[in-house]
Amino acid sequence: PAQGPTSTATPTPTPSGPWTPPAEPMAFPKGFVWGSATSAFQVEGSTAVDGRGPSIWDTFAQAPGNIDDGSTGDPAADHYRLWESDLELMVSLGLTSYRFSVAWPRIVPTGSGATNQRGIDFYRRLVDGLVDRGIRPAITLYHWDLPQPLQDAGGWTNRETASRFAEYAAVMFEALGDVDATWLTINEPKTTAYVGYAGTEHAPGAGDADQGAAAVHHQLLAHGLAVQAFRDSGAVGDIGIALNLQPIYPVGQAQKPAARADSSENRLFLDPVLLGTYPDDAIGDRSGQLHADPATFTALVKDGDLEIISAPCDVLAVQYYGVGAVNDSGSWVQLYPTSPAGWQQVHAEGLYDLLTRLKRDYPGAPPLLITENGIPDVRAGAIDDDDRVVFLREHLQQAARAIGEGVDLRGYYAWSLLDNFEWARGMTQRWGIVHVDFDTQERTPKASADWYSGVITANAVAP
Ligand code: NOJ
Repeated sequence: PAQGPTSTATPTPTPSGPWTPPAEPMAFPKGFVWGSATSAFQVEGSTAVDGRGPSIWDTFAQAPGNIDDGSTGDPAADHYRLWESDLELMVSLGLTSYRFSVAWPRIVPTGSGATNQRGIDFYRRLVDGLVDRGIRPAITLYHWDLPQPLQDAGGWTNRETASRFAEYAAVMFEALGDVDATWLTINEPKTTAYVGYAGTEHAPGAGDADQGAAAVHHQLLAHGLAVQAFRDSGAVGDIGIALNLQPIYPVGQAQKPAARADSSENRLFLDPVLLGTYPDDAIGDRSGQLHADPATFTALVKDGDLEIISAPCDVLAVQYYGVGAVNDSGSWVQLYPTSPAGWQQVHAEGLYDLLTRLKRDYPGAPPLLITENGIPDVRAGAIDDDDRVVFLREHLQQAARAIGEGVDLRGYYAWSLLDNFEWARGMTQRWGIVHVDFDTQERTPKASADWYSGVITANAVAP
């Protein structure tokens, strides 16, 4: 089976030196997109309403012990019922775009075959409501809520799932393709593959390295097939994939281990999409993150797959939470403070390093969007989220700095609009710029939301 030409290793970025923001506000280009993001399973609730089928996250969350506080997808932030007042909230913040995801099990409840009009109608109302208010939709097609019947047939380990995804995507392009929107195919394929299939902390909780490898390739294939379906549909708007990326810094003499970690964290996803190749050293390197058998990966890749996966996109969506670092024995080390998320090493300059690296190493890449960036709060009632204001300010300064050096960054979405269901952490980690009281579902903008509104109005970030 052809893997396409192999790419040569690119140098791992080293941390850029300390940087001081200018004394004056940093302006963003005219028309810069100011958004905030959510995903269906994390905010909607109403999981058994209007014909929605079960997803792997319903199954996973209902099994005892998987979610820290025992919460499930119901009611989450009850957005399925409160969508209209949530639109008013977006208007009050001044958002120019809203990123949400479509729940595949609302559209194709059994994963294949019959579609569910009531599910389609919900997203039609939402999209029309956005357009009426001058807010541009950014629509993620897969944010982890795989229809359970597809998982029963192997989920992302089954190549057929990529075809089912493309069929579902075509249904959505047909339903909403008249609207000028940004479409994102797959959200963070790395997380699903590494944490849900190779690992056990996310649905479906397979815990098998070879399944992780299969989930990487089949999600990327699904992305490529959906891009084809988008072009065939004649839908207006643009399309891309949402990748979580992080610079990997070498500590000491760790150039080689850092390059290897960079391959499994970044290049395993960037190279096939942007160059049509898989990086040699991420495929089946048992000491790398993937831990898959090399033969397993090679056997997955059929002739023509990499051409499909690398079909030109209109945008590359980057989700940035922090950096990684490895020492010369290849172990992960901590260089910077972690957020209450636990896994998040916060380093705003890392966003600059990442964006400038994309420009340098992938000169043919389409324009960039940052479709997620944020930190959690573990205090249940708090709206005085000064840490989040600092985080957002520092990251927007680094984004502006990168734009100043020629990075074609077109927009930014804060994660998240609302406090919501944070996967295995349940409702214990609050990522919203808007507070949600989960007893009353009352929304209260936090200090960060007010601050972000000011940024949007000024189209600039002040020091
Ligand atoms: C990335 C995921 O896309 C999103 O669903 C999640 O809530 C955030 N990271 C924070 O962990």
